Amino acid sequence: MKRTLLCLSAIVCVLTLSAQGIYDFQVKDKSGTDVPLAQFKGKVLLIVNTATRCGFTRQYSELEALYEKYHDEGLEILDFPCNQFGQQAPGTVEEIQQFCTLNYGVRFPQLYAGRTGEAASTKIEVNGDNTHPLYAYLKSQQGFGGFRTDSDMGKAMDTMLRRQDSAYDKNPDIKWNFTKFLIARDGRVVRRYEPTDDMSDVEVGIGTELNPVLSNIMARRSVRRYLDKPVEHEKLQTLAMCGINAPSGMNRQPWIVRVVEDRKLIADVTEVYRQANAEQVARDSNFKNMFRNAPNIICVCTPANGGGELDAGLLGENIMLAAQAMGLGTCCLGGPVRFLLANEKARFFIDKLEIPADYKLNYIIAVGYPDEQPQAKPRDASRVKFIK
Ligand SMILES: Cc1cc2nc3c(=O)[nH]c(=O)nc-3n(C[C@H](O)[C@H](O)[C@H](O)COP(=O)(O)O)c2cc1C
Repeated sequence: MKRTLLCLSAIVCVLTLSAQGIYDFQVKDKSGTDVPLAQFKGKVLLIVNTATRCGFTRQYSELEALYEKYHDEGLEILDFPCNQFGQQAPGTVEEIQQFCTLNYGVRFPQLYAGRTGEAASTKIEVNGDNTHPLYAYLKSQQGFGGFRTDSDMGKAMDTMLRRQDSAYDKNPDIKWNFTKFLIARDGRVVRRYEPTDDMSDVEVGIGTELNPVLSNIMARRSVRRYLDKPVEHEKLQTLAMCGINAPSGMNRQPWIVRVVEDRKLIADVTEVYRQANAEQVARDSNFKNMFRNAPNIICVCTPANGGGELDAGLLGENIMLAAQAMGLGTCCLGGPVRFLLANEKARFFIDKLEIPADYKLNYIIAVGYPDEQPQAKPRDASRVKFIK
């Protein structure tokens, strides 16, 4: 019984967190006045738990440098002094503020916890029973990704924390002072930086989120659940136009594009797919159609005798990024193409596309209004090397 209740409360907690966004939380300034985070809508936020007597305290000067460089472009740093790590943030609210100003010339505000409506500020708690709801939310959005193992400091932190708890890395708790969360202009918690991460990485993240084009690139994710709402014709036209404005070798434009708005055609070919994959479709309670459930698809064709794939890929990325900027979701699809080309019963679909004889269907882009917000899948930065 107790276990069931615990499970239920955990589910309620997760549901509550997922129903919230960053702008639903409220904190306090140093004098105890409520500070609703909604006042930062449209800004890029760096939320950091700090301490004045920590080995990382000198990061204050780097944070201040970032603040000076990017504040006018829309960066706000929300600094939460926190005494939970080695009790390295002692002293009163005034003492902490004086320390930051005198030693590091800090101009961004220190923020606190405290009950709504009560004029009292207390240092925020980021872990444990009294975790502030803001931090519960931040941790639910971006868990612990590990310390950098290529840095001495990262290795030292890992050794120290593992000595205290061998499974310390298995939970999303804040590990130490100067953990940072980067919030996009639309309120998404896009990155978490551990205190041992390079400040240059933090700066790259901030610069990316401040720039709408770069932020759009980073926000795109493959969407596989869509609302039951077709994309307006003009918007599909815009996507096609953005697509064909991609670069191509010698401007040969070696692509043929078919934008499918015919919902019956999609439904009919899905019926063929359903018959061939009955068990798999039955297992998927969200199944709407064979194109990852999107109401519209864009079919991209390349020359039948090869070539043009690179150009066609660039066209597709233009389309997907344009869609992202227009509030649409997309998913690049290879699987359905293999099915369509291998299945004689789907021939009517290919015929309807009126693809010239010297071209073949290469890949499909699913497009529609998203009904999910997938998290970013990890990217392997070690595949990139800078040759200096
Ligand atoms: C050439 C290509 C083929 C793909 N085929 C499929 C597919 O058949 N089904 C699918 O669900 N996703 C497909 N994807 C999407 C990838 O799974 C997705 O891009 C990748 O996991 C990275 O996730 P992200 O797009 O959310 O960043 C394809 C992507 C590419 C580039």
